[in-house]
Amino acid sequence: MPMYPVGEASREALREQLRLFAFDTTLKPPPDILVRIQQELTVREKLAILLEGELDFHGRDSGYASHSLHAFAAKFPPQLPRVFIRGLTKPGDLVLDPMMGSGTAIVEALLEGRRGLGLDIDPLAIRLSRVKTTPLVIDDMRNVGFKVLSQAHALMSDGNAIEQYLEGFDERTKAFVDYWFLPKTQRELTALVLVIQNVADTSIRRFLELAFSSIIVTKSGGVSMARDLAHTRPHLDKTKEPKDALERFLARLQKNLRSMSEVVTNGTDILSLAGDARSMPIAAGVVDLIVTSPPYANAIDYMRAHKFSLVWLGESIPALSELRAQYIGSERVGQVQYVALPGRAEMTVRQVAERDSRKAAILRKYLAEMKSVIAEMYRVLRDDSVAIVVVGPSTMRGIRVQTHDCLADIASSVGFEVVGVARRVLDRDKRMMPARFGKKGDSMIEQRMHEEYVIGLLKPEHSQGGHHAVS
Ligand SMILES: C[S@@+](CC[C@H](N)C(=O)[O-])C[C@H]1O[C@@H](n2cnc3c(N)ncnc32)[C@H](O)[C@@H]1O
Repeated sequence: MPMYPVGEASREALREQLRLFAFDTTLKPPPDILVRIQQELTVREKLAILLEGELDFHGRDSGYASHSLHAFAAKFPPQLPRVFIRGLTKPGDLVLDPMMGSGTAIVEALLEGRRGLGLDIDPLAIRLSRVKTTPLVIDDMRNVGFKVLSQAHALMSDGNAIEQYLEGFDERTKAFVDYWFLPKTQRELTALVLVIQNVADTSIRRFLELAFSSIIVTKSGGVSMARDLAHTRPHLDKTKEPKDALERFLARLQKNLRSMSEVVTNGTDILSLAGDARSMPIAAGVVDLIVTSPPYANAIDYMRAHKFSLVWLGESIPALSELRAQYIGSERVGQVQYVALPGRAEMTVRQVAERDSRKAAILRKYLAEMKSVIAEMYRVLRDDSVAIVVVGPSTMRGIRVQTHDCLADIASSVGFEVVGVARRVLDRDKRMMPARFGKKGDSMIEQRMHEEYVIGLLKPEHSQGGHHAVS
């Protein structure tokens, strides 16, 4: 047990205490020290201390609690949101991730006894985050899970029910399913979804749907005929012999039950909602901390991999294709309105425009969308509270796009104070990347994979309620 210099703790000692307990989750400082940190150090000071800390987290376990329930591209390590949640909020405070992805930040909020709110427009992200933050009775989940499995085995001999389900797909979805899944696998997956659909308990049903999804959306394409769903465009591999889906489901069920047994509730509420970060369904001034990692300009195409399981969970290819255009960073520029950007954001777009006007339009659209997101973050935060934005650089037509510099200037323009920007070196083995937008050319993913930046933004006290905010 470390000794805390209670009583005569100097300001520097308090700063040291903050460093210690924010980064070492095994430590629980005495409540009086926490109160003094809260009262005697300013939020700006605390944020600067945390940004100076070691934010690489190489070699640290990132699969505890429900974090490894399902593959998801470009997750941040759970230790990253945890540092800022521990260092900048207290139990009961509200932590928001408006682009929550797999829900890493809100799982950490739950584990630390904070309230959590997550938004995303990706149907798989919403499903995943919900399940990861809903503690359930493990024995109930296990019992229902095994019952589902034996019912699915029985259903395999009922050709009619299975055929009827497969005929229910619309034309495009059916073509997709036929292209990527062998007839045998289609029957196995149908048997599983048909029985999972009948599970009456919503939370258990959602948990089972995710175990189902995680046998398809994996780096190797799981039981589909895709060779690699994680790193490139999916490629059809006609030589692949997919494993039996029911066997894979059993293995995944057991693994996921173990993961969920580590999710404990501290009596706090966590909410994962479908919502667009550019216009958040959240009142002004109610959020105590934002920790988020947006997509990068034209770099990631989540839908390309996620549709492989979503088509089995009731979504259609036409509807998913529509939704794809709503993702920040998507390449669909269409009729984009011209939005003027501040400082280095405008400068970078102009540099890219000298080489490629289409790429420049994509970048301008991305930065304009991020301007809306950052203005929304400013609106929903309480005064004197922090937003952490984690983002990496990329390369467009040979020009290095320092996304963090662009976003920092955008943040200043909407009223934030940029307290610091910390660099973190990525653990290449961990931060799995998905398929990217576009066919070839700039390989933005490979080029930006080594590092990313943690931008620390402060909404100043008594700010003018967003008079800088963009429309
Ligand atoms: C880099 S990922 C976040 C990963 C997350 N930090 C994690 O640990 O799993 C970015 C997320 O932004 C989401 N996103 C893209 N456009 C969005 C929008 N308009 N509103 C909300 N979320 C959006 C994507 O669906 C994706 O899940």
